[in-house]
Amino acid sequence: MIDLVQERILVTGGAGFVGRQLCDMLRDRGCKNLFTPRSADYDLVDRAAVARMLAAFNPSIIIHLAAKVGGIGANRENPGLYFHDNLVMGVNLIEESRKTGLKKFVQVGTVCAYPKFTPVPFREDDLWNGFPEETNAPYGVAKKALLVMLQAYRAQYGYNGIYLLPVNLYGPWDNFDLKTSHVIPAMIRKFIEAGQEPQAQARGAVVELWGDGSPTREFLYVRDCAQGIIAATEQYEGAAPVNLGSGQEVSMKDLASKIRELTGAKADYTFNPNYPNGQPRRCLDTSRAEEAFGWRASTTLDDGLKQTIAWYQAQRAEQGRR
Ligand SMILES: NC(=O)c1ccc[n+]([C@@H]2O[C@H](COP(=O)([O-])OP(=O)(O)OC[C@H]3O[C@@H](n4cnc5c(N)ncnc54)[C@H](OP(=O)(O)O)[C@@H]3O)[C@@H](O)[C@H]2O)c1
Repeated sequence: MIDLVQERILVTGGAGFVGRQLCDMLRDRGCKNLFTPRSADYDLVDRAAVARMLAAFNPSIIIHLAAKVGGIGANRENPGLYFHDNLVMGVNLIEESRKTGLKKFVQVGTVCAYPKFTPVPFREDDLWNGFPEETNAPYGVAKKALLVMLQAYRAQYGYNGIYLLPVNLYGPWDNFDLKTSHVIPAMIRKFIEAGQEPQAQARGAVVELWGDGSPTREFLYVRDCAQGIIAATEQYEGAAPVNLGSGQEVSMKDLASKIRELTGAKADYTFNPNYPNGQPRRCLDTSRAEEAFGWRASTTLDDGLKQTIAWYQAQRAEQGRR
């Protein structure tokens, strides 16, 4: 068990959606030597910048969250960038920190690494039994390659790198930009806007959603994810990847109807099958996380959605006042 308060912790992507929650929790625990460098100062795609960053902060632990991420649309528009940057950032950090005698490296991977047709619930041992769903394969494969790198470095250099696989996340500070957002913030925004626009109300607003509504997803509240990452950083020392999920599977149709109800929107909705569905089903087996470091998610989808909607509405009200 690592006492994080005693460590020098560097969190990449610390100002991002997951990073904010994680760093708040670490500060609340009393971690004083916490470093969250930004990309403007240290571009992790640049190997020399990574070396400079490690020399400047001399961390004993790195939690690597920085990534180029987005929903299906953003993945389809940036397959090359997502493959390159996600792979190279990890490669640079792992190789440079290997030379510094780092105590632990925590790589945050993604459910997008799983094969398109994985038996549900997804078990970590099935990770290599097929190719990921096409729209997010470049992102998923780049991240999955870092698992191999960590296992190889553990075998050859005794490098202590662990690898976590969070499912789709949601919560306060998520990205609500419709061009790049994931499905939950996109649905929340669309329903709230449809309910608020006077013209839309007058003509009976219809919210258009992507795909045919049949795919299922599992969603993990961002604070639960951050708690899982912290528990693993403290307690997990294995080479095998570990899923982080809520275990609750929901179809896009049911999610849309839930979000419409929780936002109080009067708008109707329709699914447009001309847009891609993405992976047909997603739901993780989370038993390894519970056995290895006693973590399980505690926030129900309803509670998490209520908190996310309340946060987004407060943000909109704040912006309206400015
Ligand atoms: N969101 C999800 O649903 C989800 C699900 C599963 C796994 N994950 C994983 O969780 C991690 C965090 O995701 P997130 O949603 O919090 O992402 P996010 O909000 O987009 O934050 C990512 C951060 O990465 C940093 N970054 C990007 N390119 C960089 C570069 N070249 N050099 C240095 N920093 C760079 C950015 O830092 P600056 O702000 O300083 O530019 C940004 O704040 C990622 O590894 C992602 O793959 C996310």
